[in-house]
Amino acid sequence: MDSKTTTNSLPEVLFDGMTIPPFPPLRVSVRQRFEDIRGLCTRPDDVIITTYLKSGSHWVWEIICMLLQGATSFVKEGKGSQFLEALDDLNLINKMTSPRTLNTHLPYRWLPRKHLENDGKIVHVVRNPKDVAVSMFFHFKETGDFIGSEKLDLDDRVNGMLSDAPNQPYGGWFTYEKDFIKHSKANIHFVHFERLKRYPLEEIKRLADFLRVSYSDQLIFHIAEKCNFTSLKEADDTTKVTTRKNVHGPNPKSLFLDEKPFTVECIDKGHMSSTGGMTDGKALKEVVFDGMSLPPFKPLREGVEARLNAIKHLETRPTDILLAIYPKSGTHWVWEIVWMLLNGRAEYIKEGKESLFLEAMDDIGTIKSMDSPRVLNTNLPFRWLPQKHVESNGKIIHVIRNPKDICVSLYYHFIGSGLFMHSDGVQFADCFEGLFSKERKPPYGGWFSYEKDFEEAVSNNYNIHVLYFENLKRNPMVEIKRLAEYLQVPQSTKLLHEISDSCSFNKLKRADDTLKEKSKYKKIVVGANPKFEGDVDKVQYNSFFRKGEIGDWKNHFTVTQNERFDELYRKQMVDSKLTVYYE
Ligand code: A3P
Repeated sequence: MDSKTTTNSLPEVLFDGMTIPPFPPLRVSVRQRFEDIRGLCTRPDDVIITTYLKSGSHWVWEIICMLLQGATSFVKEGKGSQFLEALDDLNLINKMTSPRTLNTHLPYRWLPRKHLENDGKIVHVVRNPKDVAVSMFFHFKETGDFIGSEKLDLDDRVNGMLSDAPNQPYGGWFTYEKDFIKHSKANIHFVHFERLKRYPLEEIKRLADFLRVSYSDQLIFHIAEKCNFTSLKEADDTTKVTTRKNVHGPNPKSLFLDEKPFTVECIDKGHMSSTGGMTDGKALKEVVFDGMSLPPFKPLREGVEARLNAIKHLETRPTDILLAIYPKSGTHWVWEIVWMLLNGRAEYIKEGKESLFLEAMDDIGTIKSMDSPRVLNTNLPFRWLPQKHVESNGKIIHVIRNPKDICVSLYYHFIGSGLFMHSDGVQFADCFEGLFSKERKPPYGGWFSYEKDFEEAVSNNYNIHVLYFENLKRNPMVEIKRLAEYLQVPQSTKLLHEISDSCSFNKLKRADDTLKEKSKYKKIVVGANPKFEGDVDKVQYNSFFRKGEIGDWKNHFTVTQNERFDELYRKQMVDSKLTVYYE
């Protein structure tokens, strides 16, 4: 064996300034295997996938195989069957049918010479080194690829990667990537892990163009779906085990370690109830409960189940009016209109809707002492609304807004409201995934299920007044009149005109900036985000009246996000009769 041994009994292989996992052929003769790889007789239609460790080689391998096949079935063998440095017998490669999808973590200087000389296709996947370090840490610890790796801690891994320490895995990320950048040419196609994650359709199309395979939008979409994290992990667990045994020993662990959605962040320990929002003993920056991710309002962080039950069993009055509306669909707007109608004059009230925001208000018990009529409001789904109110046919006002604009509005709310820790640097694509990706627990359970439940409730003849955001924007007089009829309050044309005018976007925004009482809102933000250290004065008010337009999504959605959304809508709302106005 031409590798040096370390202090452990079955060491990693050290060769040419690199540490390499002790794959069986390398333990026999690492030099021989490397020379054999360099001398490999490649074919013109070969594709070689080159990646540093933990940078997405399995993911891209599956995508490329599907593109080359023009189909979306998983190849049973797995990428290990063409993993050059680990394959038991390299000659097996010669017997494989074309096109082959070879793959390796070897640095540029050890790639098959013939392939380089002939400008053969190379797909090079790059991932940011911080995530690589974390992924390597868990990989080494859990797969046992390196003897003694169970003793490593994350600091060892990160410090090792960030120093000039000799013999880093495959020579170290920096050297490895610098070499590829130095040799970049048209035959090397760079795929960035993070872009592939955010814009799968675009990136898969770019790959298809590079590979010169023909494709339809439909195929690209299905490949993206099939190769999303959850499906791939499932396929890996069920169909790929055999080949991994050859490479990683008798008990291979999944190479798809559990993904952390962007919403999962520690805020502090011990604030959350054990019934919701706890993961690995740590509190999340959003509260997760009953399939929903909820904003980290203090009452929810302290006991989400208790607060939701308190809402469900609320002692309501026949005169109560409940605004039950998905986030960012115009609750503040309708709150104002309803109060003007109830008061019979177009004057702004001082109190913001936060004073009766059921899941966020500090002490829900205080509503007992409030005068009637009360305008309760919540973003919770139908099943969590106050049962007594629902069952006794109490008034419920429900606003529907198109989910694309909601996504945009939520994004600005997320980054600007101060409610959420670590919202810095969050991109629109993160919000899009958070709201529409199947793998995530979306805000309040997601728009689709929220609206489907309401559609069913309406068909069951509960006393629900349905109002479209877009209609209210276009025909305020008509919609305000309908609201007045529902509320059974006087509705002179003069009053309707005045309300319509006072509640136009610009006027309402100005009134909100200048007249509204903000202390309750700020208290909610302080309770949600420990960064304010309980100091209300540190909270900057971020207006709920941002742009107020229909179709702002066109300035934010990429074409592929739009395609993905439309497809998702078709699937999710297949039995729905809902009309949605996107423009
Ligand atoms: P944008 O972020 O798209 O501007 P909610 O009150 O449920 O949080 O919803 C907030 C959204 O309603 C914001 O959307 C806000 O601008 C919009 N909105 C509020 N009042 C409005 C009005 N008078 N006309 C149009 N949009 C309004």
